[in-house]
Amino acid sequence: MKYKIHTFGCQMNVYDTGRIERHLGAAGHTEVDTEEEADLVLLNTCSIRDSAESRVYGTIGRLAKFKREKPGRLVAIAGCMAQKEGERLLNGSRIVDVVAGTHAIPRIPKLLERAANGAGPQIDTEKSQEDLFDDPDLPPDGKEIHRYPVFVSIIQGCNKVCSFCVVPYTRGIEVCRPPEEVVRECAALVDRGYHEVTLIGQNVDSYRYEEVEFADLLMRVSRIEDLDRIRFTTSHPQDITPKLIDTVAGLPNVCESFHFPLQAGADRVLTAMKRGYTVEEYFEKLEYLENIFGSRDENPFAYNISTDLMVGFANETEEEFEQTLECVRRARWDSAFMFKYSKRERTAAYPWEDQVPDEVKSERLARLISLQGEVSLGLNRNAVGKEAEVLIEAVPGYDPEQDIDVVKGRTRTNKSVAIQPPMDKALPTVGRRVPARIVSCRPVTLTGELVQQAGSAKV
Ligand code: SAH
Ligand code: F3S
Repeated sequence: MKYKIHTFGCQMNVYDTGRIERHLGAAGHTEVDTEEEADLVLLNTCSIRDSAESRVYGTIGRLAKFKREKPGRLVAIAGCMAQKEGERLLNGSRIVDVVAGTHAIPRIPKLLERAANGAGPQIDTEKSQEDLFDDPDLPPDGKEIHRYPVFVSIIQGCNKVCSFCVVPYTRGIEVCRPPEEVVRECAALVDRGYHEVTLIGQNVDSYRYEEVEFADLLMRVSRIEDLDRIRFTTSHPQDITPKLIDTVAGLPNVCESFHFPLQAGADRVLTAMKRGYTVEEYFEKLEYLENIFGSRDENPFAYNISTDLMVGFANETEEEFEQTLECVRRARWDSAFMFKYSKRERTAAYPWEDQVPDEVKSERLARLISLQGEVSLGLNRNAVGKEAEVLIEAVPGYDPEQDIDVVKGRTRTNKSVAIQPPMDKALPTVGRRVPARIVSCRPVTLTGELVQQAGSAKV
């Protein structure tokens, strides 16, 4: 079959799409660029918020035409919505042929084969503890272009019980991947030409495989030759330890970049969320980071902190929301993902009355985004005139805002930098690390120019 995959949601889904591609490839199926050429459209779905599910339902509706146009075409739904909605996806529309939950990826080719052979709709939402990670020796997806970031899953599922979050139900309980497999997968990526990997999990700090904790795993991965940068996400504020922070500081190829979501700025809301920490405890961790890595005012590339924030949860009052704004000013996160609370079935908070009207949530979200934008811009302004190492992530492309060709990359601290190379020089290639001087900035991107390296005309 010729297939086309649409991926929704988080980095775990991006990673899982890679797994699905490899399993489909091993079964003899090939990827095509457009739906018109495809016999199969697979949606790798997200159910974190209602809006994510609506987008998927919209796409399913649109696929009615895809199926009508050519008999025998198949539609498959994988990922969190497949896990959560199960049968409802089959019954709700007559379009879906295969529903494959979060734990069913290796079985997708078999499910497709049965559906294609007229066995009717197939569903597999079994949460077996096996096959959650692939053998790193499974054939690579064959894609030539290096695309950053590239993810390596180290832990599946989540054992926390945040009262708003559906992830523990869709992704199941935590299962850690053997460290040798993580190292082999990272090494295989380096063999294929990648110089940076991002280790991912819902909560990487709680990684533990026999005696190996997350800090130990980082040490093992850091020993891979030619792996210049290692990133990791997401950290949980309750679990991020001084040991981990010290380990990051001590390993030159592990990036000093921390994504650990505060969620809300009022202790009452945090308690209702069952997050397991207070605002002050969160800020103690930030203080520790500053003690270890130094002040970002003195060195804007000292380290990076980012967060997730939610508005309108647990009947959040205006005063409580303003406490979140105060945290934005105080923490000065480099960036933040910001959301309106969306009620999810099966979560502890589902039966609670949600009294904050949507307009109020929207208005709070807009104020939050605006303030965070100012903070990000302020931090970025401080970087103008300074130098940083940039790993080139994308082949040259046109930047309409600047009306020039640029190459795009990232600093170790996860800042996106657009570099305009001098006209008489070759463009740096993807995967190269180059020194750049920051010349201007916007809230989410920096613009830089290449710095001439002493004794070398090469860029
Ligand atoms: N630990 C995870 C968190 C997954 S969910 C990780 O790896 O990132 C990502 C973010 O979505 C959460 O941090 C939270 O801010 C937001 N979120 C989760 N459930 C939500 C809900 N019901 N409504 C709105 N936002 C939600
Ligand atoms: Fe969700 Fe909380 Fe886990 S946000 S993914 S239950 S840490």
